[in-house]
Amino acid sequence: MKVTVFGTGYVGLVQGAVLADVGHQVLCVDVDEKKVAALKAGQIPIHEPGLDALVINNQQLGRLQFTTDAAEGVAHSEVIFLAVGTPPDEDGSADLQYVLAVARTIARHMDGPRIVINKSTVPVGTADKVSAVIAEGLAQRGVQHPFDVVSNPEFLKEGAALGDCQRPDRIIIGTSNPASESKLRELYAPFNRNRDKIVVMDVRSAELTKYAANAMLATKISFMNEIANLAEKLGANVEAVRRGIGSDPRIGYHFIYPGVGYGGSCFPKDVKALIHTAKEVEFEPLLLNAVEDRNHAQRKVLFERIHAFYNGRLEGKTIAVWGLAFKPNTDDMREAPSRNLLESLWAAGAKVKAYDPVAMKEARRIYGERMDLELVDSPQAAVQGADCLTIVTEWQVFRAPDFDLLAATLNDKMIFDGRNLYEPALPASHGLGYVSIGRPAQQ
Ligand code: UGA
Repeated sequence: MKVTVFGTGYVGLVQGAVLADVGHQVLCVDVDEKKVAALKAGQIPIHEPGLDALVINNQQLGRLQFTTDAAEGVAHSEVIFLAVGTPPDEDGSADLQYVLAVARTIARHMDGPRIVINKSTVPVGTADKVSAVIAEGLAQRGVQHPFDVVSNPEFLKEGAALGDCQRPDRIIIGTSNPASESKLRELYAPFNRNRDKIVVMDVRSAELTKYAANAMLATKISFMNEIANLAEKLGANVEAVRRGIGSDPRIGYHFIYPGVGYGGSCFPKDVKALIHTAKEVEFEPLLLNAVEDRNHAQRKVLFERIHAFYNGRLEGKTIAVWGLAFKPNTDDMREAPSRNLLESLWAAGAKVKAYDPVAMKEARRIYGERMDLELVDSPQAAVQGADCLTIVTEWQVFRAPDFDLLAATLNDKMIFDGRNLYEPALPASHGLGYVSIGRPAQQ
């Protein structure tokens, strides 16, 4: 089947490559000329395991192509994905300007029936807005072509995007049009073989499903962070509690890891957007507000620990930071908890020596050259000359450090771990103080 994808960001590029890989003829359109030129040359702008090979391979096989020509994109296929960005506005609502701009483009170039599929995370009611924009554009041209706007949200996780897209848990199809449903069933047939993963519903429910899924996961994390903070006050160990509750299948082990608060381009943005949507229809989302508030507070916890340890005197201290990306296996630092930490440390007069396996370039792009930030090329280099170590991202490479070396290197022999990577007794047995989340401190 021929498919067009507007937007070559995370979602569009992964979706396009995965659809091409099963044999569809995919044309990806982006307004960014540099990005399209790079993609044509086999250079992938994001770090996502396996994506380079998939893009390069399918390009060579002629199944995946890139263009900046929107008219070519609209002409290429009856099936058009919208996968452009929906960044948050200042008030937390999703900014739909890119989605609606593509809708206008589609209306301008349409020469026959089209199914427009929304992959971007967009507020409930967006499909109706996209429909209205296309209808208006067609009316201005004085032409009539049948079209349907479908909601088909994406559930991929960064760092595991290919697997999530190739083997989805579910495929949500939001449409009341049987012809669109049958076209999408055909498109997704290669991903729907072992059991029926397709769930068909009305378009508004599909749009809300995406937000509800992310808000539910964010709620689990904020809940667990709350229990972690309470466990500390009560002298309990949140890791034991986590195992204890996770063993109940109604709760499950996923997304109950306490830490430094959720980050990334999805949870913070989507929880805020859902709060905004609720308020627009005069509904006070008590639980979502609390999820957001807990996360806001949790992002400060690591800094507060360090600040308390040094009795508020951080000027002149050098803090080693392991991990800058918002989670492992990505170079993404959008809403990364590391940024809250770095910025608080700098505001308190401390210097940072940081290492991340892949996000160093991104950190350089965000922060540029500054006197109080040294980006180094190994975990060992980060601790050289540092007073203490802070762990913000749970990369594999940080899981079994040489504790003797750390004890010999860190001036104050302290580790502040925002991800609970070690059994507390372990660093302690090497003479290191160890402060983690929701567990008794070893100092
Ligand atoms: C999230 C969802 O997991 C995907 O299903 C969804 O498709 C995606 O958003 C999206 O809307 O595009 P992602 O943001 O890539 O995916 O990353 P997650 O693995 O979900 O992690 C999000 C944040 O939660 C990270 O900061 C992570 O450290 C934190 N987290 C996760 C915890 O603090 N504890 C946990 O137990 C799990």
